[in-house]
Amino acid sequence: GDGAHVPVLVIGTGYGGSVAALRMAQAGINVEMVEMGMAWDTPGSDGKIFCNTTSPDERSYWLRTKTKQPLSNFLGFPIDKTIPKHTGVLDAEEFGGIIVYQGRGVGGGSLVNGGMAVTPKRENFGAILPTVNADEMYNTYYPRANAGLGVGLIDPNWFDTVDCYQFARVGRKQAQRSNFPFVFVPDVYDWDYMKQEAAGTVPKSAVAGEILYGNNYGKKSLQKTYIAQAKGTGRVNISPLHRVASVTPSGSSYTVVIEQLNTSGDVTATKTVLADKVFFAAGSVGTSKLLVKLKATGKLPGLNGEIGQGWGDNGNVMCGRANHLWDPTGKVQASIPCGGIDNWTAGGAFAEVAPLPTGIETYASFYLSITKNPNRAQFSWDGSKVNLNWQTAWKQPSIDMAKTIFDKINSKEGTIYRTDLFGTYKIWGDHLTYHPLGGAVLNKATDNYGRLAGYRNLYAIDGSLIPGNTSVNPFVTITALAERNIEKIIATDF
Ligand code: FDA
Repeated sequence: GDGAHVPVLVIGTGYGGSVAALRMAQAGINVEMVEMGMAWDTPGSDGKIFCNTTSPDERSYWLRTKTKQPLSNFLGFPIDKTIPKHTGVLDAEEFGGIIVYQGRGVGGGSLVNGGMAVTPKRENFGAILPTVNADEMYNTYYPRANAGLGVGLIDPNWFDTVDCYQFARVGRKQAQRSNFPFVFVPDVYDWDYMKQEAAGTVPKSAVAGEILYGNNYGKKSLQKTYIAQAKGTGRVNISPLHRVASVTPSGSSYTVVIEQLNTSGDVTATKTVLADKVFFAAGSVGTSKLLVKLKATGKLPGLNGEIGQGWGDNGNVMCGRANHLWDPTGKVQASIPCGGIDNWTAGGAFAEVAPLPTGIETYASFYLSITKNPNRAQFSWDGSKVNLNWQTAWKQPSIDMAKTIFDKINSKEGTIYRTDLFGTYKIWGDHLTYHPLGGAVLNKATDNYGRLAGYRNLYAIDGSLIPGNTSVNPFVTITALAERNIEKIIATDF
């Protein structure tokens, strides 16, 4: 409550924040977590907590009056619709040259993401986190993260026969015909639950297209894993609809100013808490925005010049292909991707075969590629807000890398790119990222364990630590790095 003095305050309840809270609580430390989004623990009038991708309502977007769907068009027509302004679960945050999609609520990105839980290939790790000991990560922290998150793999025999992965089997066949390796991608979705969904014996979730605006049944979001465990210790308190506005030194502690929000996004109260230690776990964008502002406005002037630097989009780029009539991708598509095309070493691209769950046969194959895009952007304070200087044209290397896969598949199959999904006559979804990384880079803005330079007892412990690229989907690496860092911090800083 207002005026309290707490040992530890964690800003944000995504992967980094949840790992930090659980491990500190298990070590006997009381933890206060502050989350700007909603709790997502109460069903709406339809009996469900989250709304479906096919019928977005006020629960879908963070403070927008119109949806901002990643795929903005279908057959060339815009598909966004009007919604009431509300503290919904998915934020499409617009900067000058890029829209950054993020989860809002207790569980952060785990509420809205595809659950693809990929440990990078060890040979790529040196480029991902150059100052981190790879042996420790692959022997201890990646396994710990995979166990904590509940990562599992699809049953390959079931995959071969079930209707809802027809789209992925077409993706596999075409990849293999062009001599690209197709790999199964692990996920935190409960695969046994999905089998029952497909068989019609339990309420449908992934098989009914739930994903971007939350998943009502099968996905093991952080609410079901790290956060459930953290709450179970009795030492963690979470305040949803509270947004941290400022952190500033006060004696040997920090004064944290917190704004309480209503579900229209208005500030209804301002509270002040004194915290001995503060963990920034607001996500790459959230942590960067806070730190850049606090440094520039004199609240934390001792932060170093690396704050806000080294931001990347994990090379995200999307595209679709139009298949022949003999390669239908299926009316029913599970919303959880389960496979990818690995051309990282030769072409700098790892492409997930993604669903396009429209409920009708589209003959389309859809892909989200992660590429080795070398461009990095920075956040800066303009006197009233924090900007990001990413340019749309900086996606060109990603497009070129993705083309090493899809130009070849198109030429082998005699097919073409879809041009109707991101506008009219627009092939590439080059306007967005799902994977923001960087802004408080490890061993630059912080020491090698996330302690922010210039201050004692201030830490970054989320995607902001990772310098822009993980070669695969990022949350397993964010989780494993947080496991590594918090173990060291608990051992030495308390
Ligand atoms: P994360 O963003 O999870 O959490 C930060 C939290 O802090 C949020 O809940 C936010 O509301 C809160 N916050 C921010 N500012 C605050 C403030 N000032 N005060 C209080 N709270 C504040 N990754 C992957 O590995 N596999 C996948 O399949 C996918 N798929 C995917 C799909 C979509 C649609 C999205 C948007 C993202 C993904 N991702 C993904 C990415 C993944 O979700 C992402 O990398 C992680 O959630 C990042 O974890 P962090 O802990 O860094 O922050």
